Amino acid sequence: MRAYDIIYKKREGQKLNKEELEFLINGYVAENIPDYQMSAWAMAVYFQGMDAEETANLTMLMAKSGDMIDLSPIKGTKVDKHSTGGVGDTTTLVLAPLVASAGIPVAKMSGRGLGHTGGTIDKLESIPKFNTSLSRDKFFDNVNQHGVAVVGQTGNLTPADKKLYALRDVTATVESIPLIASSIMSKKLAGGADAIVLDVKTGNGAFMKDLKSAKKLAEAMVEIGKELGRDTAAYITDMNQPLGNAVGNALEVKEAIKTLQGKGPEDLTELCIELGSGMLQLAGKVKDTEEGKNILREKLNNGQALAKFAEMITAQGGNSEVVEDLSLLPTADATFEVKAERSGYVSEIKALDVGVAAMILGAGRENKESKIDLAVGLELNKKIGDQVSKGDTLAILHYNNKKNLEEAKQKLLKAFTITEAKKEKNKLIYEIIK
Ligand code: URA
Ligand code: CA
Repeated sequence: MRAYDIIYKKREGQKLNKEELEFLINGYVAENIPDYQMSAWAMAVYFQGMDAEETANLTMLMAKSGDMIDLSPIKGTKVDKHSTGGVGDTTTLVLAPLVASAGIPVAKMSGRGLGHTGGTIDKLESIPKFNTSLSRDKFFDNVNQHGVAVVGQTGNLTPADKKLYALRDVTATVESIPLIASSIMSKKLAGGADAIVLDVKTGNGAFMKDLKSAKKLAEAMVEIGKELGRDTAAYITDMNQPLGNAVGNALEVKEAIKTLQGKGPEDLTELCIELGSGMLQLAGKVKDTEEGKNILREKLNNGQALAKFAEMITAQGGNSEVVEDLSLLPTADATFEVKAERSGYVSEIKALDVGVAAMILGAGRENKESKIDLAVGLELNKKIGDQVSKGDTLAILHYNNKKNLEEAKQKLLKAFTITEAKKEKNKLIYEIIK
């Protein structure tokens, strides 16, 4: 077999069989196939696409290119949740203890933030002494004993995807549905999930800007799940403004705690209840969405979800008093209120600009080596549909370094569009694909 012939075949729009994909992926990881041939192939896929079987084969080959985590020491159906990435997406912090409090095991591996998107592991590390790097055995023990653990990725997971994603990033081949779908699903498979709930974000702050492409991606991933025997449900959700009000690490932990106390922002609370209900359904715990949502609302109202979060924090070495005393979390030295420059209604909040404003304050990494400040970030005071008068506070910036304050302020002001006409709130969930 020759890489040339495989590239040629895909260029001509033909379907690649499993052996050909295997030759390509394994050869690439082993460094027998150079970047230039792999990028030509990726560009051919970009233009010609791949069918469901090809995409599923590629997914499995990438999953198997490194460690495959075996979650079988954990009892029960392991349902993983994945978000395609947004701004101020605090859902995992809420969902993990919430779903666990309903009796479904949550063995979650999460990542760190990069650029304008935050990462759950960074956020959790703002809890004093919280340990995100448990050994494999301790991770399993914690889930079996407490029903939940959230840790950083360890080991050599999906090296084929790491290499290919980095290559796509510099060869204008990221935006291909089969390549994105297989990239995401390969990581979920290697992570050992039995079933998967996907939160596919759409809107100005998301990877998929419009509903049509978000739907295509969701369908491709659900199809891969079907082909590979992992029950998958994809929720297409709104990212035309940040989720909840807080953007920034410790600020989002505070927001998660308030949400677990039943006092969180409406959009974040509703999304967690919807996605959580999807997880309960895939785990076979409830028969329909309504039953799942009722159980989870009850867990938020009766304090059991919050108690589960405290239990998880203690089990991972952290100070669980934070759930009662938010002042134990890192706090920025100063705050600054960004005021509206005109009156009207908020009609748009560009999530990307809000994420960049938080990054400028130090909440996010500009590159993999940057250090982040866990205390800083921002809180939105107004969301789409809200009425504002000139001089009202749009957002509160939390900062430690005055140097970047003006730039962050300008970025935030640019994110808001205020119009005379009232804009209705966006839908939170556009569609569920199963
Ligand atoms: N996220 C991923 O994990 N992979 C992609 O290809 C795109 C977004
Ligand atoms: Ca948030």
